[in-house]
Parts: sequence; C-alpha cells; structure tokens
Amino acid sequence: MKYKNIVILTGAGISAESGIDTFRAEGGLWENYPVEQVATPEGYAKDPDLVHHFYNLRRAALKTVTPNPAHEALAHLETGLVKSGGCLTLITQNVDDLHERGGSKDVIHMHGILTSMLCAVCEHRWEHYDDTQANMPCPACSVQNLCRPDIVWFGEMPYHMRRIESALAACDLFVSIGTSGAVYPAAGFVQMARGFNKATLELNLESSQGSHYFQENRLGPASSLVPQWVDEVLK
Ligand code: OAD
Repeated sequence: MKYKNIVILTGAGISAESGIDTFRAEGGLWENYPVEQVATPEGYAKDPDLVHHFYNLRRAALKTVTPNPAHEALAHLETGLVKSGGCLTLITQNVDDLHERGGSKDVIHMHGILTSMLCAVCEHRWEHYDDTQANMPCPACSVQNLCRPDIVWFGEMPYHMRRIESALAACDLFVSIGTSGAVYPAAGFVQMARGFNKATLELNLESSQGSHYFQENRLGPASSLVPQWVDEVLK
C-alpha cells in the first residue's frame, strides 16, 4: 500500500448526489438564504426564528436522504487502513450525518453538525433530531432563549483545529473531495499539507478555487470517483 496514513477533507459535493443542496451552485443554499442572515452570530442576534427555521429545514431534509457510494467508500477505506496498521483522519465541512450513516466511525465535523444543539450559557451539547425554537430551554441549565444549532457560523472558530493540524503534519497524503475551496481555514489545508511535504490530491466535479495547489486533480462525480480511488489505495 503506497499510503497508510491519509487525511481527507470533504465538502458539500460529496453529499450532492444524496440530494443535499450545495452552497455556491446556481440555486444553492446561499442564493436562497443570504449567508449573513442565517450563518453569522449577528444574523442570529437579529432574527433567531429565521435561523432556527433555516436549520430546521436542513435537519428535516436529513430524514429524506441516504449516504451514496462515496460516503460508503470512505467507510471502507477507514476499515481497510486500520486493518493494515494505518489510519484515516476524515474531516468534513458538512453538517449532515451521511458519513456516519455510511459507516465511518470517526468523523471530525469542523463546522459542527445539524443533529447537535449547543447552550451558549453553559456550553452543554446534546443530540437533537427534531425542530428547534429560539425559546427552547437548555436541558442542563434550563436557561431559555440561548440554545442554538451546534454549527460554526462565519466569524467563529471551526472545531478541532489542533487535531486537524497534527493529522496533516503526520499524514502521507491529503485528499480534498467535493469542496469549492472558498472557505478558510479548510481551503488552506492543502497549502498546509504542501508545507509539510505531503502528497495532495483533489477529487471534485469541476476545477475549484484551490485546484492549482494540488499535485493531482481528478474531475467527476464523487459517487464514482471516490470508490474508484479507494479501490486503488486498498489494492
Ligand atoms: P460549495 O457549495 O462551496 O462547493 C461544493 C463543491 O462540490 C463545488 O466545487 C462543486 O463543483 C462540487 N460538487 C458538486 N457536486 C459534486 C459531485 N456530485 N461530486 C463531486 N463534487 C461535486 O460547498 P463547500 O465547499 O462544502 O460553511 O462549502 C464550504 C463551506 O462553505 C460550508 O461548510 C459552509 C459554506 O458556507 C458554513 O456554513 C460555515
């Protein structure tokens, strides 16, 4: 096996064929809901009901979709690498749970996840699969009006950055799948990996803003590109 320790970053493109909207495509999420209104602390302070509504729609949509062959292939890769003494660090910018439902055991949700809520007062987190409202009380401290989706908004620090940086420093290969490379710090992982002299590969439907940073680029839909590439790695 050429690569035993692999770091993968996924974005909305890996879930597109499962039926989840991407952000920046024509008709994508940010076209219908201005990002500053639904994905910033300022937007939440101004209109919390709109923000809860936006994430309620996203959470409800999770119940209508299933993982596709790309999610399943990455779960297969995780098992295969572990069996051979290697390791996969799977980082996703996605707030859906399709990697977990596709069988991946260890997923780093750097932008949070729709199925978790966060109390801004006591920082208690809990799993929540149904609709939420601005006035809901925290199950731990009972304070009302300060529970929010456990999602990283623009202007906030993504989760698990130390673990991600250590994984990039220790890997043999960094792979980016289905992301436009428009949002930092995730968009900068390829440069970080190059700085550590790691091999880099991009799998995306089309060229992304960061394509030129990668040593190799493969274009096509994730549902076929990813299983093909996983087969090559595990051969
Ligand atoms: P984008 O919507 O910016 O980009 C999706 C990428 O997936 C594009 O480059 C598409 O070409 C590609 N794509 C679409 N369909 C695909 C398919 N079937 N197979 C492979 N690739 C496909 O979404 P992200 O890059 O994930 O952040 O966006 C990054 C972050 O920006 C999100 O996590 C979100 C957003 O604003 C927050 O909400 C904090």
